[in-house]
Amino acid sequence: MKKDMHQKREGFSSSIGVIAAVLGSAVGLGNIWKFPYVTGANGGAAFILVYLLCVALVGLPVMLAEHLIGRHTKSNAVGAFKKLEPRRPWFLVGGAGVLSAFLIMAFYTSVAGWVYAYIFKSAGGMLISTKPEDTSLVFTTLVSGVTEPLFWQIVVLLVTGTIIMAGVTKGIERVTKILMPILFILLIIIDIRSLTLPGAAEGLSFLFKPDFSKITVGVILAALGLAFFKLSVGMGAMITYGSYIDKNENLPKMAIKVALADTLVSLMAGIAIFPAVFAFGFKPDVGPKLLFVIIPTVFNSMPFGRIFMVFFFVLTAIAATGAMLSLLEVIIAYSTEQYQWTRRKATLLTILAIGLLGSTATLSNSILAQFTVFGKTFFDFYDFATSNVLLPVGGIFIALFVGWQWGHTNVKREMSNEGQLKNDGLVRVYMVLIKYVVPIAIVLVLLVGLKILQFE
Ligand code: PHE
Repeated sequence: MKKDMHQKREGFSSSIGVIAAVLGSAVGLGNIWKFPYVTGANGGAAFILVYLLCVALVGLPVMLAEHLIGRHTKSNAVGAFKKLEPRRPWFLVGGAGVLSAFLIMAFYTSVAGWVYAYIFKSAGGMLISTKPEDTSLVFTTLVSGVTEPLFWQIVVLLVTGTIIMAGVTKGIERVTKILMPILFILLIIIDIRSLTLPGAAEGLSFLFKPDFSKITVGVILAALGLAFFKLSVGMGAMITYGSYIDKNENLPKMAIKVALADTLVSLMAGIAIFPAVFAFGFKPDVGPKLLFVIIPTVFNSMPFGRIFMVFFFVLTAIAATGAMLSLLEVIIAYSTEQYQWTRRKATLLTILAIGLLGSTATLSNSILAQFTVFGKTFFDFYDFATSNVLLPVGGIFIALFVGWQWGHTNVKREMSNEGQLKNDGLVRVYMVLIKYVVPIAIVLVLLVGLKILQFE
């Protein structure tokens, strides 16, 4: 680790540390909460296939693009573009990323609040039924309340704010390095339980036997949006984290590892959930509550289920927290570097702003339910506007910037660590992807996908 780096860059000195941090950003509620319910709502296996294509052909190249410019400029999302192109408005791409971080945090902290609450509900024995009606009721009561979900959202903000303010990238990394493997092992245990439930086969075929008639442009847009959200790309989180990566790191290799591991966690969450969905007579397309009603029923049908359940929600909370740290870091790096705010001031103002915005997401299940933006509740609007619009659009511009503006020579230099790595062929393939495939694919999906949505 170089001495001249900022203190906050300390933790990213080893390859394992980099993977832990980047994977810590990628793995979160996206895998455990969003992936299963979006898959459930979009017909299962065929959606997953489209999703995998989106990850490989679009998400992964954009992740690498962000790491390249982040590491090269050692700057936040806005500063990176300003350094590379001071005279042109490319920095607006970073600005949109900062906005996306606020909007994602608004609903993410709300869901993370539910997860935090579930730790206590499962520990307190409030989730000990295998009946769908009972577990559904516990969830509905929580989210349609006012003070309870707001309280948990504030707890989430205080926890993440405290960690960020202390600047303990090192602490969180050390923690995630231990806890990620535990989450993995726990998922294996639930997978085994879920797979041995009577009637599990139906869930598996839902997950792995594609019915291509289910693929519509709306489905493709959902898959693309999920790929961006999952890999934390399109809004500068990976530029920010990239700026903390050591110059000897093999960036393409690392991005591939992260994308693979992240996808594996999502699939394992799917295997944990769908066999149980069918075994217990739920419907796969119940939306955001899927995780919260299925997981208790699975655990309740196994020995020591309650202990495992508490553990599961603790780990989900930790995964969510790791992802939120990267979202916050986008805003904090931006405001401390571009405006010279202290980390403390930046953190306090940021969590205050997110708290205010986020309360509208939380309350959209109760007192703000009638308020809609483009026909969506605040919660759904923040979610849709980021995943399905801002992140893909951000992805287009990041790809155009790296592919056309920054260009082949610079990409080659950064990707090969100034010529140390012999990866010319890879660079050439990458240039085709980032110059043509990524932007064209996103534009097509967005154009058709969003137009279709107007007819809905
Ligand atoms: N990738 C995170 C998840 O799946 C969410 C996230 C999106 C984090 C964008 C950072 C930036 O939970």
